[in-house]
Formats: sequence, C-alpha cells, structure tokens
Amino acid sequence: MQFQVTPSALSDATVTVPGDKSVSHRALMLGSIAEGRTNVSGFLAGEDCLATLAAMQSMGVSIEQVGATDITIDGVGLAGLGTPGGPLDLGNSGTAMRLMTGLLCGQAFDSVLTGDESLTGRPMRRIIAPLSSMGARIDSRDGLPPLTIHGGSALRGIDYDLPVASAQVKSAVLLAGLYAAGATSVVEPAVTRDHTERMLAAMGVAVKRSGSRIAVEGGQTLQGCSVQVPADLSSAAFVMLAALIADKADVLIENVGVNPTRTGVIDILQAMGADISLEQPRLLGQEPVADIRVRSSQLHGGPVDPALVSLAIDEFPVLFVAAAAAKGKTTFSGIGELRVKESDRIAAMAAGLRTLGIQVEESRDGAVVHGGRFGGGVVESHGDHRIAMSLAVAGASAQEPVTVTNVAAVDTSFPGFCECLAALNIDIRVAAQ
Ligand code: S3P
Repeated sequence: MQFQVTPSALSDATVTVPGDKSVSHRALMLGSIAEGRTNVSGFLAGEDCLATLAAMQSMGVSIEQVGATDITIDGVGLAGLGTPGGPLDLGNSGTAMRLMTGLLCGQAFDSVLTGDESLTGRPMRRIIAPLSSMGARIDSRDGLPPLTIHGGSALRGIDYDLPVASAQVKSAVLLAGLYAAGATSVVEPAVTRDHTERMLAAMGVAVKRSGSRIAVEGGQTLQGCSVQVPADLSSAAFVMLAALIADKADVLIENVGVNPTRTGVIDILQAMGADISLEQPRLLGQEPVADIRVRSSQLHGGPVDPALVSLAIDEFPVLFVAAAAAKGKTTFSGIGELRVKESDRIAAMAAGLRTLGIQVEESRDGAVVHGGRFGGGVVESHGDHRIAMSLAVAGASAQEPVTVTNVAAVDTSFPGFCECLAALNIDIRVAAQ
C-alpha cells in the first residue's frame, strides 16, 4: 500500500483523531486483571491494541466490543488469567510486548510472546534485566523476541534505577511488582508518560510517587472502573503539523489528551514559533484533555531542548518535518532512542527528507535539519506508521506530488488517517504498491 499526496491548499476544519494508544493498551491489561467490569470508551481499535485485546482473550478474559470505540472487559482478578492457547502474537507493538512481559512473568503458566519483523528486532534486555532480578525466568533470542516466559516464579520486589527513560520499562516493572512480595520501586532518569500510574490509582492501587521514584506494594487488588480514553496527542501531532506548515489554515482538534508527560511536542513547536493554543482544558476521567487550535505559522529553527525528549518521544518524526519547513537550522540531540523504535527513525526521516530535497546531517543520537522547501518524489516509510504519516504531511506542503511507500502500518495507531487529512482538504489517496 502507498500514499499518493498532492500538494493542497488546506481548508479550516474541526476534526477528531482516534483514541490514545498507550491508554487503550493499559485499559485492556489492567481491566483484565481487575475484579469486576471495566467499561472503556474512546478505545483505539487500531492493530496494536487489537493484538493486546486478542492476547487477553486468549488468556480467558471476556472482552466485548459494544460499539465502534466502546469495549467492556470482565476482569478475572490478579490470579485469574489462564494458559494461552499458543504463542501470543503482538504484531508491531513494543508497548504490548514489554508491558505484557511484566504482567506475565509472575503467572503460574508459561507463555511465549512474539511479533512481526519490526518487533522481533527490538531490544528486550531492558525489561529482561529488571524482571530477572525480581526472580522472573525469561528466555530470548539474545535479547530479542520471541520471549518465553516461564511460569511459577516467585517474584520479589526490587528498587530499580531505570537506565533509559522508558514508560514501557517502568510499566513492566510496576506490573510485575503487583505480583511480587514486598514493595517494588522504579526511579526515572527523566519524566515519562504516567498513564500506568494514573490508571492503577483509579483502580484502587496505592501508587506512591516521591520525586522521581514510583512505588507499588505487591498483592493489591485492582477494581474495575470506567476508562475514558482521550484522543491521542501523538496522532493529533500529524494534523497539527499539516495545519502549521500550510499557507493558511485554522484547525481545531477536539478532546485531545494533554497529560503533561506527553506535551513536549507542543512546547517544542511553540518554541519554534507555532501558533498553538489549548482551549477548554478539562479532565476526562484521570487524564487532562483540551481542544487544540492550530493556525499556520512561520516556524524557525534552533536547538531543541533535550529535556523535552522523553515528553515528545513519539513525535520526533513529525518534528523533523517541522524542522524541514522552518527557517534556519534545527538541532536535535539526545534522541538516540529513536533508533530502536518501530524503525530507526533518525535514519528513516533523514533519508525521506533528503529525497524531498532537504539537507539533513545525522549523528549517533541526533540530527541537524536545514529548513527548505519540500520537492516531490517517492519516499519509503520502512514499514513504520509514524514515518509514513510524517512524510505524507510533508507531501501536503510540497511543490510536487509525493508518494510514500509501504504504509499499511498506519492502521496500527491511526485508522482513518487519510479521511482525517481529507477533512482538511488534503488530497491523499491510497493505492496498491
Ligand atoms: C509507550 C512508551 C514509549 C513510546 C511508545 C508508547 C507506552 O516507548 O515510544 O510509543 O505506551 O508506554 P518507550 O517506553 O520505549 O520510550
């Protein structure tokens, strides 16, 4: 599948984007081990979350889709999961694999976790190391999936200093901590998304935070609750960028999650001169949301604050597009983690932007992007949803048509992406490769 994008004059619009991927994964996993029913609204029915949903069902959890974005989960309690019928295929999803490993390493049964070509190339030592020190027994292919998790291990709490700022690792350790004897704590080197902590608290678990340390006591019961999933800021970011770099557009994106552990993209873009405002900030369940208004702006380059990296970790592909459309040069540093996402995102964006006529210099954990005008061409997504969508957004402001190849993975996080861009009058078509 490929996107064919023709440069377009945008129209003003009010749009919505699908539900938050991180919150949807957590609702499925925590709802499954809670007691009683969890009603989820605004659920992201994208492929990543559907893989988690199928995995929980194969361990005996009854999950029903009661509407397009509404599901109910009948929790089986901390000890109620059953032996899965076979290997759990988590598709493209690093979040599913890392959090699920934390959840499964304290179970009585064995399980095998696998995934697609991208996921089976992603590093798992970052979770295997702390979970093993809790007493888990996990086999891997030299640190890579598939993972075989041996059941029946008695876990004990640990005090763990995270070597990387990763919400997935933090969450894996905390989930294992629910099954461990004593207290488990993690210390973050930088703030990462806190959806796990918020949802655990909403389900009645005492989560203690002091400074950068987060702790849970093992054996606590979760109570099913209602989870309202906000629209995903990481998806909204593509719409924001399309509007920002258009000649003239005024776009409102409704009901978007603006949890402060996620809003680095807004801070970075505002520092580049973007006209972005948060309207009607409010709480949706445990998560802050707002309507985000974006007006076309002349962006300017500069150094991007490395302190914001963990708060914008998924938005760097689209921030590269912002940098390419900005006046002057933009310097990204401290973004080495991008090399181990669904693709090597530094290399993938550098290659795509260069094809479109933008000068980019790469380093091991950074890049310098020189602002310019996007030409046309054929660019490769490397099977990575966020690379595909970022390059499509660049195409909407290009001087010539842009074709983005290998885009099927967009459905992992943003089903309806093309329809959403079409609502801004962007001419984007899907064609067979
Ligand atoms: C996620 C954490 C981040 C992010 C991913 C979702 C999560 O990964 O990139 O898309 O839901 O916890 P890391 O924890 O590896 O930074």
